[in-house]
Amino acid sequence: MLRGHRRAARLTLEQLAEVSGVSARALSDMERGRSKGPQHRTVTALADALALEEDAREQLVELARDGRLRDHWTRRAGLCELPRLVDDFTGRAAELAWVSELVYADSAPGAGVVGLITGSGGMGKTTLAIRVAHVLRPNFPGGVFFLDLYGMSSNPATAADALRLVLRALGVADEQIPPDVAERASVYRSLLRDRRALVVLDNAGSEEQVRPLLPGEGASQVLITARRLLAGLEGVRRLGLEPLSLPEAMQLLTGILGQRAATDEESALNQLAGLCEGMPLALRIIGNRLVSRPGWQAAKLAARLVDEEHRLDQFRAGDLKIATAFWMSYDQLADAARRVFRRLAVVPGRDYDAALAAVVGEVPVEVAWDALDELVDLGLLLDGDAGRYRFHDLVRLFARTRLVEEESPAEREALAARVAAWRAADGHDDSVVARTGL
Ligand SMILES: Nc1ncnc2c1ncn2[C@@H]1O[C@H](COP(=O)(O)OP(=O)(O)O)[C@@H](O)[C@H]1O
Ligand SMILES: [Mg+2]
Repeated sequence: MLRGHRRAARLTLEQLAEVSGVSARALSDMERGRSKGPQHRTVTALADALALEEDAREQLVELARDGRLRDHWTRRAGLCELPRLVDDFTGRAAELAWVSELVYADSAPGAGVVGLITGSGGMGKTTLAIRVAHVLRPNFPGGVFFLDLYGMSSNPATAADALRLVLRALGVADEQIPPDVAERASVYRSLLRDRRALVVLDNAGSEEQVRPLLPGEGASQVLITARRLLAGLEGVRRLGLEPLSLPEAMQLLTGILGQRAATDEESALNQLAGLCEGMPLALRIIGNRLVSRPGWQAAKLAARLVDEEHRLDQFRAGDLKIATAFWMSYDQLADAARRVFRRLAVVPGRDYDAALAAVVGEVPVEVAWDALDELVDLGLLLDGDAGRYRFHDLVRLFARTRLVEEESPAEREALAARVAAWRAADGHDDSVVARTGL
């Protein structure tokens, strides 16, 4: 359909890309049906660029929405699949070398090797682990598996649940999975012993949570990321992740800014990179903030960042930089998006879709969609599979403080009641969510 409109408007793919601001690659994916549910904002940009009449425009928007919903209902994500890599991965050469060494170091028989990456939130642990796993995939013919243990959330995954998930990913049928944790762990270890697999355990919260997931004998390896040091784990090779160096931080920032980096003064960009103190998450959010506001100069943003830091001292020192970066983006949101954002912080479960965002924000679903798109553009929300969205845990924390400060207890209670009613009607049992953490 899109291709038909484009041809009728006598535009090449490249021309439409230029007029609409949607990349040619994304357009080509849409035209070939590879992306069935483009974002609402993308679709309206295309409708504008094609100067579509009211009916044709509505039809296009509806088609995209249906595609998105269908995607949402029918696509079943692969189990323990490795997440997408960021396409502008920067720096971390020494850390990548460290992990490679770990993998090649000893293939002597003995206990499988366990690597542990620690560091504060937003330092890039997950991103590094994903990068490593992609790079090393050819070394693990037995497969690469990725599990988020949600160790920093209010409902971390239990070892039993994590084992069930990874056993299913390893091909064990549901009815073959033993009920007991110790038995599950033993099946898991025997499966790992017979193959060379890599299991990434992201966001481990405690020693107890990961112990049953460590390999026994054999060539399989486990890579853990954690905010805490997990000092009780023995025989683990440790890597403490530090901030990016200033040149690396600059590289990441100018990469995010793309062409507009050339129009900002280098000294201002340097100052911004310095203010982020090498925290990748802060750099990402500040970068996205600049890209989404072409009129804002880097120098002006840097000056505001310095001011804002004083206002956000309720955050612990380590999180302060990041909170300040969040604040810059939060501040520029339209009211509806701001409300959706802070209220999503208290929604149970780990991710949500536009329908639930509409319920929490008390806005029509179209508005919720726009708000979610805007939040993703700013790096405040992560765009998951099939029309679902989630927070980085630090962002959720920030959103929650906004909610508490900006809304009264009565408003918050009404919100909780609305969410509970909606979830009950949608077939969710929150007691199950709380119990299993899934
Ligand atoms: N080496 C890197 N190169 C580019 N971007 C990075 C890098 N490390 C982290 N990021 C960005 O910073 C954000 C936060 O990183 P993440 O890995 O989620 O941190 P952590 O797991 O330590 O909380 C990511 O979404 C990613 O966009
Ligand atoms: Mg992480």
